[in-house]
Amino acid sequence: MDNPRLVGHIVSVQGFRVKVELLPETRSALRATLDGVQVAIAINAYLTFSLGAGETVIGIITDLEARETFDPNSGDDLSLELMKPRRVASVQLLGTIEHADDEPSFSPGISVLPTLDTPAEIGSPDILRAVFEIPPRRNKPEGYDDKDFDCDLRIGFPTGQARNVVRASYNDLFSRPLAIVGNTGSGKSFSVSSLIQKAMKALDGAAEEPHVFILDINGEYGKAFPTVATAARLPDRIYLNGREFGLPLWFMNAEEICAWLSAAEQTQEPVLKDWWAIAKGGDAAAAVSMNALQNAMSALDQLLSELTKIKKKAAGSHCDAVTGHLADTDIDTAAFEALFENHRLVNDFNTEVMNNQAAIAAEAEKLKDAIRDKIVGGNATAEAGVRTADSPLPISRATLTDPSLINRAVSKEDSFRVDAHLTTLKLRLKTRLDDKRWRAFLNYEDTGTKIENLSGWFRRFGLGAAMGPNVSVLDLSMLSNEVLPYACAIIGRVLLEARERLPAASRYRNPWVLVLEEAHNYARPARSDEDRGHRLARLTYERIAKEGRKFGLSLIIASQRPSEISQTIISQCANFISHRLQNPDDIDHFRRIIPMQARRLLDQVTILASGEAIVFGSAFHIPTRVQFDRPDPGPYSQTAAPFHEWSKSSTPFPLDTVIDAWGT
Ligand SMILES: Nc1ncnc2c1ncn2[C@@H]1O[C@H](COP(=O)(O)OP(=O)(O)O)[C@@H](O)[C@H]1O
Ligand SMILES: [Mg+2]
Repeated sequence: MDNPRLVGHIVSVQGFRVKVELLPETRSALRATLDGVQVAIAINAYLTFSLGAGETVIGIITDLEARETFDPNSGDDLSLELMKPRRVASVQLLGTIEHADDEPSFSPGISVLPTLDTPAEIGSPDILRAVFEIPPRRNKPEGYDDKDFDCDLRIGFPTGQARNVVRASYNDLFSRPLAIVGNTGSGKSFSVSSLIQKAMKALDGAAEEPHVFILDINGEYGKAFPTVATAARLPDRIYLNGREFGLPLWFMNAEEICAWLSAAEQTQEPVLKDWWAIAKGGDAAAAVSMNALQNAMSALDQLLSELTKIKKKAAGSHCDAVTGHLADTDIDTAAFEALFENHRLVNDFNTEVMNNQAAIAAEAEKLKDAIRDKIVGGNATAEAGVRTADSPLPISRATLTDPSLINRAVSKEDSFRVDAHLTTLKLRLKTRLDDKRWRAFLNYEDTGTKIENLSGWFRRFGLGAAMGPNVSVLDLSMLSNEVLPYACAIIGRVLLEARERLPAASRYRNPWVLVLEEAHNYARPARSDEDRGHRLARLTYERIAKEGRKFGLSLIIASQRPSEISQTIISQCANFISHRLQNPDDIDHFRRIIPMQARRLLDQVTILASGEAIVFGSAFHIPTRVQFDRPDPGPYSQTAAPFHEWSKSSTPFPLDTVIDAWGT
């Protein structure tokens, strides 16, 4: 045969699907070509169709069948062999290869479809190379002319074709959200480790700057990204690169502190927010004088509404309410007070109504104007108050543990009214502070975990000094379920807000990637019974998924339950790595969100081996089934070997260690 690559001809074209009738001699799935033995006729093998003019269309075999058909060529003699088996391969077309200046290059569009009788060939190695090994190049920096702005990052090899490798666009994988899904034990943590290890290795000698932050929910990554320090893990603590770390309570913004103390929206939130601002050294005086102005305003409104009924004997207290609130301001109340002077002289039994109502009304309106001017003029200070409540400014433990300080946020008049609400708030604060599970939020004054200010917290990562490991492993595995969403919400928000504060022109510099392990624990879809911690975490990560790209903060989301991750987050993902999935809900859910051409490949998602995945997205030319490279070293992996353990081991269960770790 003249062309050893030829395997058949097109017999049907339906949109982007074609059928190829295979030549009788292609009985074997393998075919010897000039380039060695290649897989020719098997599911997932690649066939090419030459269109001439240096253009080749490439497709993947999705179905194979053999049919018996009537064979009119079987001769004039009526024989018994009228039937001939036809072997047909269905092929999904994927894109076009152009052979411009020698290097074949892939483009996902197909402008001319192959026609009937077009020969089908086994993809030659250089064509397969163009598809798998030369990924798209993304995110060229403006004004940068060299070609080395992106790197072809090796991730593994196409299943069954160990002689090829699969590479992805480095920039694309780490600049836009990436989802890694699969059942437990399917290889997610291994793939995350492998990707990040390779990515960091490719930097080869560049500055030691923190680039990747891993929220390590299971405590697996310490082994894959070893650092010198390895403290023993104790309950309710956070570890950063093996050393105990913390997340100061004062990182919480006004909304978070309200959620944390389950403050009631109407009655407790306003007070709590004021207190949070004051405790953070906010302008307490400004907040108080703003309150006074607002109180004076309502006292005046009340006076005006009751004006026609107010008895002379009660007039004095109305006047005092207004002047009392305005005492510390420079608003002149003399004329207003003078109008009440005569009324104060009447005795308690007097029942006459005030006779100078018109004059009082006119003066009251004047005061209201003056107050309004002040409130509008003073807006900047009011805003400053809000800003400090949200800012991560230190609050000493002593301030926190003296709940009576909450009263500072309430003016005297209000204090009586809201006292009942404040009592529950103070009690809740005390319970929270005594609750050991929140230790990681409260250890910022202890030796060893001291964090004096925000900058001190960031410096523990090595940020700002071009030192410290490229990969920061935040071990959150010892936190309780209730604490975890708060920790994740706050870490995510603080990282995003740090990026938002970069000058607009340089936000794309020093980009960061945040890895969310087991993201279904804290990035769940919105639900009616969602608790406040989960809501905060979800909103944070939805915001990062939607806006992080602009600020140079990307996500890698690893989860065994893609259907239990917020839609908003999943829909922002530019790339997907899908390991074995078995839950029909998850598969269905996934099928709906992935591109058309990947759907057939996704049928294989239930039969993938460990470390095998279907990858697709903008970092790849085409959806591909990949065997991932193993990380070295790997993360701690959970699968036990019961037979080996039970038959060989004679050491007893380490009960004491467990009880100690329980912290009881
Ligand atoms: N790329 C790989 N090559 C070979 N084996 C792998 C690979 N990835 C995972 N495995 C195997 O699968 C097991 C589970 O992997 P892991 O990443 O811990 O799963 P997951 O995080 O999805 O629960 C590992 O212990 C390892 O033996
Ligand atoms: Mg895992």
